[in-house]
Amino acid sequence: MTIQSVRWDKDSVLILDQQKLPHEVTFERATTIEQVWEAITYLKVRGAPAIGIAAAFGLALWAQAKQSNQLDLFLSEFIAQRDYLASSRPTAINLFWAIDRMTQKVSGSGSVEEAKDIALTEALAIQKEDAETCRKIGEYGLSLFKDQDTIMTICNAGAIATAKYGTALAPFYLAKDQGLTLHAYACETRPVLQGSRLTAWELQQLGVNVTLITDSMAAHTLKTKKIDAIIVGADRIAANGDTANKIGTYGLALLAKSHQIPFYVAAPFSTIDLNTLHGDDIPIEERPPEEITHLNGQAIAPSGINVFNPAFDVTPHSLISGIITEYGIITEEFSTNLTALLDKSKEGIQV
Ligand code: MRU
Repeated sequence: MTIQSVRWDKDSVLILDQQKLPHEVTFERATTIEQVWEAITYLKVRGAPAIGIAAAFGLALWAQAKQSNQLDLFLSEFIAQRDYLASSRPTAINLFWAIDRMTQKVSGSGSVEEAKDIALTEALAIQKEDAETCRKIGEYGLSLFKDQDTIMTICNAGAIATAKYGTALAPFYLAKDQGLTLHAYACETRPVLQGSRLTAWELQQLGVNVTLITDSMAAHTLKTKKIDAIIVGADRIAANGDTANKIGTYGLALLAKSHQIPFYVAAPFSTIDLNTLHGDDIPIEERPPEEITHLNGQAIAPSGINVFNPAFDVTPHSLISGIITEYGIITEEFSTNLTALLDKSKEGIQV
């Protein structure tokens, strides 16, 4: 399966509406930056790398449509559009990484025409690099597993959350290529159900033997089934290795420790935020109460009930067996080794 959830098409951006999966595979055409902002905020496009790619295309869209000869004005408005997209979701650092990279590149332009070209070229480059990055994460990830292993995951860190292959799901794609078999347990991922709607669908399309469980079944499943490892994606990794990912991830990491099962985080370097020293400093998005109180528009809780709906949690680095990146796997001394990776990352990935 090689579905591309975000792509540039005829001066517009095609976005797979992930809210409609698995019932409908529908692409929405965004022609304005406002439509891209909405697609990110309302989770039509979700998953840290895919959010970054969509935002980069959003800025490219705005740049293409802008009628102006005044470079200074164009560049100051570009920064305002960057700030606008930055308000779409707070936790995934890939969003900020992508729009800051776009802003930096465009600011070196000599004319508005050149700035427009650079904006589109850079957005396409971000997407292309992410595909190669995820392939490398898949290779490193697969090296940790053996044929017939069974791996548990939560949320969706698959191809549709990235340019290709995914992060946590990338080893499943690489295993297929290499004729190896990996089995999966997908946690449902209340309340937005990325596990059941997206991961179960994506792995089924790929031909992986995937078993769906609700989040509350994870402990019992780890105790009673042969689960060889847990692998998850990430939205932001602090300098000390503490990792923000979908709500429920921290609980899984605690369970992995008490069942002596390795717990891996798979993420590109664009998810690592060395400016945030500790996981407690990562901003955690809180989403509308209706995600919990309603199911398909139907109330499943008493009206007026107090709701706490954090979309992410932070797993302390002490619970993480390894962080799998495109530059290799870190298993200890996360602070030192993440900084060392920064130097390696500056050499870049050959695409
Ligand atoms: O709210 P979402 O669906 O955007 O949350 C996504 C996750 O938590 C993913 O695990 C993470 O972004 C990594 S996607 C490769």
